[in-house]
Amino acid sequence: MSLRRIVVVSKDPEVQQLAQEYGQEVFGADNLADALDVVQTVNPDLMLFDHRFGPRHIHEFRNRADKNSIDVPIVVVGDGDNNNDLSTEFIQTGAYDYLKSRQDYAQLEQIINRIKIKSKISHSEQTTRRFFAEDLADSVSMVGCSKAILNTLKMIKLVAASRCNPILIVGETGTGKELAAKAIHTLRHPNEQFVAVNCAALTANLLESELFGHVKGSFTGADREKTGLMELAQSGTLLLDEISEMPINLQAKLLRVLQEKSFRKVGGIKNIACSATIIASSNRDLNNEVKANRFRRDLYYRLNISPVTLAPLRSQERRQDIRLLAQYFLETSIICPQKCGKITSLTELAIEALERHDWPGNVRELSNVIERAILLETTDKIGLNAIYIDPTQWSEVSDGLTPKHIKDFSLAKAERELIARALQKTGWQKTRAAALLGITRATLYAKVKQYDIEKDSYIANSPVKQEQNEVSASPLSQPAAAP
Ligand SMILES: Nc1ncnc2c1ncn2[C@@H]1O[C@H](COP(=O)(O)OP(=O)(O)OP(=O)(O)O)[C@@H](O)[C@H]1O
Ligand SMILES: [Mg+2]
Repeated sequence: MSLRRIVVVSKDPEVQQLAQEYGQEVFGADNLADALDVVQTVNPDLMLFDHRFGPRHIHEFRNRADKNSIDVPIVVVGDGDNNNDLSTEFIQTGAYDYLKSRQDYAQLEQIINRIKIKSKISHSEQTTRRFFAEDLADSVSMVGCSKAILNTLKMIKLVAASRCNPILIVGETGTGKELAAKAIHTLRHPNEQFVAVNCAALTANLLESELFGHVKGSFTGADREKTGLMELAQSGTLLLDEISEMPINLQAKLLRVLQEKSFRKVGGIKNIACSATIIASSNRDLNNEVKANRFRRDLYYRLNISPVTLAPLRSQERRQDIRLLAQYFLETSIICPQKCGKITSLTELAIEALERHDWPGNVRELSNVIERAILLETTDKIGLNAIYIDPTQWSEVSDGLTPKHIKDFSLAKAERELIARALQKTGWQKTRAAALLGITRATLYAKVKQYDIEKDSYIANSPVKQEQNEVSASPLSQPAAAP
């Protein structure tokens, strides 16, 4: 394990030797002024500082370092004597870590490993910008380039720039309503408070006192005065999540607040001004809720002035984001730090499987599937056998090719089918088929033999013989057994 460039600020040969061991190129500096010069010139991955410089010098170095040099991790090297107590001080002044002894190669190796992971994460933060269609999407990490997401972003900008209040955000579960609410908040008043409450999570009484606060003694158990979220939000944003679940009498009180721009605490007599932007979100069709007498018509009209809509991931207008979102989650997931940066992409078959699924849990479900795939995958590409889609998540609305139509749930049968399809797609070129499936050539040979897949017989019996170039791989309900 090595780093590209290390700068050593020490005349001690043992510290220099340590650097030689782990750096492809090593540069020396005798004092702070030298060190500043060298670091600016060579842009190293690590600096080794002799502990004899003391915490004050590390502090001074960091104060004088320019924008690029300040991020270079500094490891202070002790001499194995009784100087452990200085390690905290060094770290407080900005050192990345403290190596007790100049012979402790194992500890330095661990430190270098951590530095590498950290630099990969910050590198990936820079490269993730390509997932965002524009600056607004970047600032709220809203991935997508589909027509649907571009329309949503356009709408977010319009309502945020207007004085529209309240604002309604609608969309199925997991489509990104909370992200959209945060985007509006960021555009309208980034330095104010953002507070959220889930209307489905609390009983009617609790929700009321959570929203408006209460005065002492207003009900049993109200032993002190409470400030409500509406007041806490001040001039910021209050997100009322799952507004359709708000009890009907509270809906009436909310409507009054929206009209009068003021409210009273539970049991209180003083009017308190409400200047917050109120955003309501719903994954139910509020129009239907009105028809079923579960939602007040007048409140619905008040909310529904210019709704922001998040399309389902499976919709024609948003499907094309599946590939981009999958790659984004792969690159930004921190679920498995040891694999960070090692799995670089997904196989085409894996992507096709993702694109076929209906995603009833939308983007959240996709993110979970990718995280699980990262855990399961052992190669540098996520293959079909790492894609596990929970069968209970398969939607009722299906296009005839999605998994709910597979009557036989046998894993072996699904695997046989996929292998045959990969072979068919690649014109029976086994190396390419193995790559598509994310398995080795040897494993492919073994499986072709095991399942007795023959070119002619398969095509003759194949249910997909008309598809020719169009291979339709179905997501597996279980990860396939490891090759
Ligand atoms: N366009 C997107 N780009 C990146 N991540 C997204 C996108 N949309 C949603 N997500 C992620 O998916 C998850 C669900 O999003 P969010 O909580 O905003 O959905 P929601 O519509 O509020 O869901 P629910 O109705 O269940 O509350 C979050 O982890 C969010 O970061
Ligand atoms: Mg939400």
